[in-house]
Amino acid sequence: MSDRLYIFDTTLRDGEQVPGCQLNTVEKIQVARQLEALGVDVIEAGFPVSSPGDFNSVIEISKAVTWPTICALTRAVEKDIEVAAEALKYAKRKRIHTGIGTSDSHIKYKFKSNREEIIERAVAAVKYARRFVDDVEFYAEDAGRTDNEYLARVVEAVIAAGATVINLPDTTGYCLPSEYGAKIKYIMEHVDNVDKAILSTHCHNDLGMATANTISGVLNGARQVEVTINGIGERAGNTSLEEVAMVFKCHKDLDIITNINTQKIFPTSRMVSSLMNMPVQPNKAIVGRNAFAHSSGIHQDGVLKNVQTYEIIDPHDVGIDDNSIVLTARSGRAALKSRLTALGIELSQEKLDKIYQDFLKLADKKKDINDDDILLLAGEERKNNHRIKLEYLQVTSGVGIRPVASIGLNIAGESFEDSASGNGPVDAAINALKRIIHRKMTLKEFTIQAINKGSDDVGKVHMQVEYDGHAYYGFGANTDIVAASVEAYIDCINKFNI
Ligand code: KIV
Ligand code: ZN
Repeated sequence: MSDRLYIFDTTLRDGEQVPGCQLNTVEKIQVARQLEALGVDVIEAGFPVSSPGDFNSVIEISKAVTWPTICALTRAVEKDIEVAAEALKYAKRKRIHTGIGTSDSHIKYKFKSNREEIIERAVAAVKYARRFVDDVEFYAEDAGRTDNEYLARVVEAVIAAGATVINLPDTTGYCLPSEYGAKIKYIMEHVDNVDKAILSTHCHNDLGMATANTISGVLNGARQVEVTINGIGERAGNTSLEEVAMVFKCHKDLDIITNINTQKIFPTSRMVSSLMNMPVQPNKAIVGRNAFAHSSGIHQDGVLKNVQTYEIIDPHDVGIDDNSIVLTARSGRAALKSRLTALGIELSQEKLDKIYQDFLKLADKKKDINDDDILLLAGEERKNNHRIKLEYLQVTSGVGIRPVASIGLNIAGESFEDSASGNGPVDAAINALKRIIHRKMTLKEFTIQAINKGSDDVGKVHMQVEYDGHAYYGFGANTDIVAASVEAYIDCINKFNI
């Protein structure tokens, strides 16, 4: 009989820690519902003690989803555990995820402690969490660089204290697949009570080995994997859910099954990318734009003769359907609604009407409207309650002239306008904007990316603006890249604490 592998999704916790990827509670609920439809077993919904926003999100996600276990992260600190238990009170199935660093460098430099004391703190945290919930997961932070013999002692002690799941994170993404697999095997073979808990992988991608390490962990006995959609996460990210799910779907010989409805993978990937303003790299396995695009003549010829020659995955199996690019200016509301639903977005009739008008305007400028465009339009809707909005922008630029921009802003209902010149059209537009908003702000990062093909494409702009010692991330999308840049700048300003 096949072995069941549990999928623990941490997009809303480890994934959301990425600067610029923060979601509000409504957006988190939307992602959580999509994760439930995707079939994940556990949703790590946040770190409740870290902020009132995280606390509230755990509460609301607990109310919004039924089937998956809702998990809340804590340090091995009583107050964290109490707050997590409170945040989980509405969850139908709940888990507290508590833990502490176990590598010598964490013990010595982070905790200024010693190995024995760390075991005592770990055991105390698990026992305390068990007072509130039956399902307690323990993480041994930096397990990847923790001495195996000591790690086995920690694991044995926390299982005896009541931990039901043991997470062995490769926090720094340092391990080789053989090394990480050997670590899981060591724990399986040297911890007497290991049968009382499930071992979990949690791999970071600093050396590009997160998925390989996760698979190696599973092949050596782990039965839960901690993953994120599109592999988002701190630094180089976490193991990507879609890669692990498809590895086990493709390699039936491994006899491992998950509950993932793989046809929901692509819409989930696009929803997360759009809500978090985090582009998916074109060559990303499974969900990248080029993942199924055969461009060389030899490959195209083979695929036309028989798709199996070069394709190991049927794109339909991950939810890529050919309908995804057929919306045009002649499509009606029903077609738009059906595409939005397929992408996991449910809107009221009023909002649908508004998006439909924006859709028609975009379709006038752009021939094919694809899923990325639709998700962007749905995202525009979120900007409606921003304090500062762009009313108009006019830019004159060209060769041999100094660019000039005029801008109109609506700030809390009042209109302002001004103009300025600059060394390029974006510089001119931002100078004009700064004549209205007199703040000492500096543009630190600025990237422009086209989503698809064609000179009529929508340009996506990501920006980082520094203000009052803090970095703010903003996003804009428009067929006019100067307008997209100004939108991104305004998005940053809307996040300032002013
Ligand atoms: O990477 C890590 O070690 C973590 C733990 C907090 C689970 O994210
Ligand atoms: Zn992590």
